Amino acid sequence: MHVPVLTIDGPSGAGKGTVSRLVAKKLGWNYLDSGSIYRSLAIALQNNPFNLGNVSEIVKVAQAMALEFECGDELIVKLNGEDITSKLGLESTGSIASQIAALPEVRRVLLQKQQDFRQPPGLVADGRDMGTVVFPDAENKVFLTASAAKRAERRYKQLIEKEIDANLAKIKIEIEARDRRDREREAAPLAMAIDAHYIDSSDIGIETVVEEVLNLIR
Ligand code: DC
Repeated sequence: MHVPVLTIDGPSGAGKGTVSRLVAKKLGWNYLDSGSIYRSLAIALQNNPFNLGNVSEIVKVAQAMALEFECGDELIVKLNGEDITSKLGLESTGSIASQIAALPEVRRVLLQKQQDFRQPPGLVADGRDMGTVVFPDAENKVFLTASAAKRAERRYKQLIEKEIDANLAKIKIEIEARDRRDREREAAPLAMAIDAHYIDSSDIGIETVVEEVLNLIR
């Protein structure tokens, strides 16, 4: 049975997560937050002392990880039975995730885990390489971006709302460093698929973006 896919790629903080979840809810489709798979691996590695140079150890941990996703109003992720949701959003988790995501062997192991999410009646997949590598045959592809300054501002607000200490200038520097790593890596770099629809969310609200994405599908 053919299962339709909508891919939403772009840099961190562009609003992909929020937009993807809202669109998936409207359509009644499944949702894949592929970044959370890389982030879960980062957490699994932190539970064991690890060395970024030891690729075969990292691959072993990736193969052994049992992930469960519960997609309610908020995404709950369990790693080997343990709820790791509260650790997923940490900046340190994102930074390790971005470093291990540069390893082609790691991406290969995680590819099937992501493709398994393609279940009826449809899938909204959010990440960096959803439209280029993981679901190249997706019917609808979006590339969602925003300026680094706007993305840093949004991330800062999120952290302050969660009562997590944050520094705006530092966040912007971290976002730019992560963008560079994600764009410049050789394995599946962050890039717009040639058949993707480009949306810049710097100066438009989430509702407008959601409408624009839904219009593509209709
Ligand atoms: O979307 P995110 O911030 O949760 O992703 C965390 C890191 O994982 C990001 O810096 C790069 C990596 N990633 C990736 O390489 N490919 C994806 N499809 C999703 C995330």
